[in-house]
Amino acid sequence: MNSAEQAFVSAPAAPQRAAGGASMPWYAAQAGECALFEHCYAQQLPLLIKGPTGCGKTRFVEHMAARLARPLITVSCHDDLSAADLVGRHLIGHGNTVWADGPLTRAVREGAILYLDEVVEARKDTTVVLHPLADDRRVLPIERTGELITAPPEFMLVISYNPGYQNLLKGLKPSTRQRFIALTLDYPEPAVERAILEREGRATPEIAARLVQLAQALRRLTDHDLEETASTRLLVMAARLVASGLPLREACRAAVVDALSDDHDTLRALDEVVRAVVGDGD
Ligand SMILES: Nc1ncnc2c1ncn2[C@@H]1O[C@H](COP(=O)(O)OP(=O)(O)OP(=O)(O)O)[C@@H](O)[C@H]1O
Ligand SMILES: [Mg+2]
Repeated sequence: MNSAEQAFVSAPAAPQRAAGGASMPWYAAQAGECALFEHCYAQQLPLLIKGPTGCGKTRFVEHMAARLARPLITVSCHDDLSAADLVGRHLIGHGNTVWADGPLTRAVREGAILYLDEVVEARKDTTVVLHPLADDRRVLPIERTGELITAPPEFMLVISYNPGYQNLLKGLKPSTRQRFIALTLDYPEPAVERAILEREGRATPEIAARLVQLAQALRRLTDHDLEETASTRLLVMAARLVASGLPLREACRAAVVDALSDDHDTLRALDEVVRAVVGDGD
């Protein structure tokens, strides 16, 4: 971690400022990811961010867009999302047809950062438009209008996915993956996660320490059939319930335990971990 990133972790109360003085979404760096993002931007390389749910991927991209003073356009991908949804389509109105840019085309024209969240969910035809943009051609062909747009240097393509619950069929094709620089994020180190809970969840240092200890214990559990484990997001929500006056044990049960499973035995085992770490009361 370089000294600039260290500052984000060790001084969470200090406002972070984007170029031009606007405040930017606060992000506690885990390692060298901010520098890697900046290098990708400078070299016009697209970035693929992998990581479990609630580990800070979206916040990281929001932070970097503000830091680089670029507009951010985010698309949450779903299984119906097609190339036309990204590129644009002809709309019919008042007797004539007009072309409407989709978010990808807008981002290319504006030199924005385009963030495709959960990209493996999107329909396969989207790769047809992403490939020429994601390699050294950096062009967007719009088949329906015959236009070919060259991306300006400021345009950056960022995609993310959660490798945890993808089935094999849904994984990205090698020809897509190999166009991107890859960055793996995970849940932050305890000191960083405590700083996040203090800042985002308004936790006292004691509550933050207890919640991080709980997360560590839950993340070590392997003999239960959990799809995902306790995320930083869940800890932030638990911290906020505590900040608003709910006893710690109840906050953990509502924000963490019940969010992780529906299975009776698993819930009992998770609750046992909570009792062991935070005790019976608050
Ligand atoms: N490194 C971090 N710095 C600041 N806040 C963080 C960080 N990591 C997590 N958070 C907190 O956790 C919340 C969830 O993070 P975020 O939405 O970025 O997760 P994500 O990885 O995008 O999850 P998903 O895969 O479900 O979209 C944020 O709103 C923020 O409060
Ligand atoms: Mg996200």
